[in-house]
Amino acid sequence: QTRQDSPLYPVLENAAAYYRQQLRRHAQRKRAVEYLQQRGLSGQIAKLYDLGFASPGWNNLMGHLATDNSEEKLLIEAGLVVENPDSGKRYDRFRDRIIFPIRDSRGRVIGFGGRVLGDDKPKYLNSPETPVFHKGRELYGLYEARKQNRQLDDILVVEGYMDVIALAQHGVTNAVATLGTATSEEHLKRLFRIVNSVVFCFDGDNAGRQAAWRALQSCLPVLEDGRHVRFMFLPDGQDPDSLIRSEGHDAFRARMVQQAQPLTEYLFRHLAEEAPPDSLEGKAHLATLALPLIEQIPGSLLRRLLRQSLESRTGMDLDSLPTSEPASPPSI
Ligand code: UTP
Ligand code: MN
Ligand code: MN
Ligand code: MN
Ligand code: MN
Repeated sequence: QTRQDSPLYPVLENAAAYYRQQLRRHAQRKRAVEYLQQRGLSGQIAKLYDLGFASPGWNNLMGHLATDNSEEKLLIEAGLVVENPDSGKRYDRFRDRIIFPIRDSRGRVIGFGGRVLGDDKPKYLNSPETPVFHKGRELYGLYEARKQNRQLDDILVVEGYMDVIALAQHGVTNAVATLGTATSEEHLKRLFRIVNSVVFCFDGDNAGRQAAWRALQSCLPVLEDGRHVRFMFLPDGQDPDSLIRSEGHDAFRARMVQQAQPLTEYLFRHLAEEAPPDSLEGKAHLATLALPLIEQIPGSLLRRLLRQSLESRTGMDLDSLPTSEPASPPSI
């Protein structure tokens, strides 16, 4: 069969329905519901993102969804059941966790994330790669963002499931998250098919700042003229979830408008930290770092403007740089 009609889709859909139902009916549902409330989420938003609960125990889902070996094998293929390679024992992957179904852009469930209710490790578990789930391609919350907005003007890219949902809870309904992976060129191509403005808003910590610089690098090859990328840097220790919960919708929006830096500004600011152009050596270093980045940009207007900006920062005429072969030696 093709990916289009994979037998995994109905299995994943049934699993989502099961987790959703557990959040409403399981004897221990109270713990899960209280956890979500304590994180500031309403029942309405839990419903919108179709949150669920994987109850404690080793084979709840398996017992519910599989009656024979072939059905268990399908659950394994869907990433929902794990088979111990030594003992051959099979057990539910997601146990005692809040469940976040991950949907493709058509709304089909393709995988899950699961969060512990407390401080256990690992904090999040995600579905493994399967025939229908590819982390480097999918964006959590994109389906839901489109569902909430007839027209999307820009998309906010954040790190985590809870960031997407907390933002939506506070009326910022255009956020998506990469699934614990770096933002790939493929993610960006997908986003720019939908909007021409993307804003990155990663956590205010070292990992978040590193992710932002890597995201910038993935953006360069898809920066056609007319596409806009901005970066919003959060105060230390904050993420979009914690920030919007403490500041509220309006302050978060204002921050986005006032503080989101255009990609080009961020690029030069970041490079100037590594190569301060306060000496000829520094200027040469800056040009060495900046040029290969600028040259990746397909948008010819933006590329030219960036070259001009680099010229004024270094006082160098870049067009006079030798491009291919060195000039022939002077004849005597
Ligand atoms: P964070 O550590 O920033 O978590 O990871 P968070 O989203 O703020 O989580 P809360 O607020 O404590 O619930 C960001 C994202 O990285 C992935 C998840 O997608 C998470 O949302 N991640 C993180 C994992 O896949 N596994 C982990 O153990 C931790
Ligand atoms: Mn983080
Ligand atoms: Mn424009
Ligand atoms: Mn975070
Ligand atoms: Mn968080």
